[in-house]
Amino acid sequence: MLKRFSISLEKNLLDSFDQYIQAQSYNNRSEAIRDLIRKALVKQAWLGDSNVMGVITLVYDHHQHQLQEKVTEVQHDHHHQIVSTTHVHMDHHNCLEVIIVRGNAKEVQELSDKLIALRGVRDGNLAMSSTGVGLH
Ligand code: NI
Repeated sequence: MLKRFSISLEKNLLDSFDQYIQAQSYNNRSEAIRDLIRKALVKQAWLGDSNVMGVITLVYDHHQHQLQEKVTEVQHDHHHQIVSTTHVHMDHHNCLEVIIVRGNAKEVQELSDKLIALRGVRDGNLAMSSTGVGLH
Protein backbone atom coordinates (compact mmCIF):
# COMPACT_ATOMS: atom_id res chain seq x y z
CA MET A 1 0.00 0.00 0.00
CA LEU A 2 1.36 3.38 -0.96
CA LYS A 3 1.27 6.24 1.51
CA ARG A 4 1.70 9.88 0.67
CA PHE A 5 3.65 12.45 2.59
CA SER A 6 4.90 15.90 1.72
CA ILE A 7 8.45 17.20 1.96
CA SER A 8 9.59 20.80 2.40
CA LEU A 9 12.87 21.70 0.71
CA GLU A 10 14.85 24.85 -0.06
CA LYS A 11 14.39 25.85 -3.71
CA ASN A 12 18.10 25.38 -4.51
CA LEU A 13 18.09 21.87 -3.09
CA LEU A 14 14.95 20.94 -5.02
CA ASP A 15 16.42 22.32 -8.27
CA SER A 16 19.57 20.25 -7.74
CA PHE A 17 17.44 17.19 -6.94
CA ASP A 18 15.39 17.65 -10.14
CA GLN A 19 18.62 17.84 -12.15
CA TYR A 20 19.81 14.64 -10.44
CA ILE A 21 16.51 12.90 -11.25
CA GLN A 22 16.83 13.87 -14.90
CA ALA A 23 20.48 12.76 -15.10
CA GLN A 24 19.57 9.41 -13.50
CA SER A 25 16.57 8.94 -15.84
CA TYR A 26 13.98 8.69 -13.08
CA ASN A 27 10.38 9.20 -14.20
CA ASN A 28 9.39 11.14 -11.12
CA ARG A 29 10.53 12.40 -7.74
CA SER A 30 8.75 9.64 -5.81
CA GLU A 31 10.71 6.85 -7.49
CA ALA A 32 13.99 8.69 -6.91
CA ILE A 33 13.18 9.27 -3.24
CA ARG A 34 12.13 5.63 -2.79
CA ASP A 35 15.53 4.50 -4.13
CA LEU A 36 17.42 6.92 -1.89
CA ILE A 37 15.50 5.67 1.15
CA ARG A 38 16.21 2.04 0.20
CA LYS A 39 19.91 2.84 -0.20
CA ALA A 40 19.98 4.45 3.24
CA LEU A 41 18.28 1.36 4.75
CA VAL A 42 20.77 -1.00 3.06
CA LYS A 43 23.63 1.10 4.43
CA GLN A 44 22.06 1.00 7.88
CA ALA A 45 21.67 -2.79 7.68
CA TRP A 46 25.39 -3.14 6.92
CA LEU A 47 26.43 -0.71 9.63
CA GLY A 48 24.00 -2.26 12.08
CA ASP A 49 25.50 -5.72 11.78
CA SER A 50 22.29 -7.26 10.39
CA ASN A 51 21.91 -10.18 8.02
CA VAL A 52 22.77 -8.99 4.53
CA MET A 53 23.59 -10.19 1.04
CA GLY A 54 26.35 -8.94 -1.20
CA VAL A 55 28.58 -9.68 -4.16
CA ILE A 56 32.37 -9.84 -3.99
CA THR A 57 34.20 -9.33 -7.28
CA LEU A 58 37.86 -10.28 -7.64
CA VAL A 59 40.25 -9.95 -10.57
CA TYR A 60 43.54 -11.79 -10.19
CA ASP A 61 46.39 -13.37 -12.11
CA HIS A 62 46.20 -17.12 -11.70
CA HIS A 63 49.94 -17.38 -12.44
CA GLN A 64 50.68 -15.64 -9.12
CA HIS A 65 52.17 -18.31 -6.89
CA GLN A 66 49.50 -20.21 -4.90
CA LEU A 67 46.97 -17.40 -5.25
CA GLN A 68 44.29 -19.62 -6.77
CA GLU A 69 44.70 -22.04 -3.83
CA LYS A 70 44.49 -19.21 -1.29
CA VAL A 71 41.33 -17.79 -2.87
CA THR A 72 39.75 -21.24 -2.62
CA GLU A 73 41.01 -21.84 0.93
CA VAL A 74 39.56 -18.57 2.28
CA GLN A 75 36.21 -19.42 0.68
CA HIS A 76 36.20 -22.87 2.31
CA ASP A 77 36.95 -21.24 5.68
CA HIS A 78 33.84 -19.10 5.16
CA HIS A 79 31.63 -21.62 3.35
CA HIS A 80 28.63 -20.75 5.54
CA GLN A 81 28.65 -17.22 4.10
CA ILE A 82 29.04 -18.20 0.46
CA VAL A 83 25.99 -18.80 -1.69
CA SER A 84 27.76 -19.32 -5.01
CA THR A 85 30.97 -18.59 -6.88
CA THR A 86 31.41 -18.04 -10.60
CA HIS A 87 34.86 -18.13 -12.16
CA VAL A 88 35.52 -16.58 -15.57
CA HIS A 89 38.84 -16.91 -17.41
CA MET A 90 39.17 -13.34 -18.72
CA ASP A 91 42.30 -13.84 -20.81
CA HIS A 92 45.55 -15.83 -20.72
CA HIS A 93 46.54 -14.42 -17.30
CA ASN A 94 43.52 -13.01 -15.56
CA CYS A 95 40.59 -14.56 -13.76
CA LEU A 96 37.38 -12.87 -12.67
CA GLU A 97 35.65 -14.40 -9.68
CA VAL A 98 32.17 -13.31 -8.60
CA ILE A 99 31.15 -14.53 -5.16
CA ILE A 100 27.60 -14.13 -3.85
CA VAL A 101 27.65 -13.89 -0.06
CA ARG A 102 25.09 -13.73 2.73
CA GLY A 103 25.19 -13.57 6.50
CA ASN A 104 26.20 -11.30 9.34
CA ALA A 105 27.39 -7.98 7.89
CA LYS A 106 30.60 -7.87 9.90
CA GLU A 107 31.60 -11.44 8.98
CA VAL A 108 30.82 -10.91 5.31
CA GLN A 109 32.89 -7.72 5.36
CA GLU A 110 35.80 -9.64 6.95
CA LEU A 111 35.60 -12.33 4.28
CA SER A 112 35.67 -9.69 1.57
CA ASP A 113 38.63 -7.87 3.16
CA LYS A 114 40.59 -11.14 3.43
CA LEU A 115 40.07 -12.00 -0.24
CA ILE A 116 40.80 -8.51 -1.56
CA ALA A 117 43.98 -8.24 0.55
CA LEU A 118 45.51 -11.41 -0.94
CA ARG A 119 48.73 -10.61 -2.78
CA GLY A 120 48.11 -10.65 -6.52
CA VAL A 121 44.45 -9.61 -6.41
CA ARG A 122 44.40 -6.73 -8.90
CA ASP A 123 40.91 -5.50 -8.31
CA GLY A 124 38.42 -6.27 -5.59
CA ASN A 125 35.06 -4.91 -4.67
CA LEU A 126 32.19 -5.68 -2.32
CA ALA A 127 28.76 -4.60 -3.51
CA MET A 128 26.65 -4.39 -0.38
CA SER A 129 23.03 -5.30 -0.74
CA SER A 130 20.04 -6.03 1.44
CA THR A 131 16.30 -5.74 1.37
CA GLY A 132 16.77 -2.92 3.86
CA VAL A 133 14.31 -4.58 6.22
CA GLY A 134 16.43 -7.54 7.34
CA LEU A 135 16.79 -11.00 5.80
CA HIS A 136 15.66 -14.13 7.58
NI1 NI B 1 40.68 -18.50 -14.51
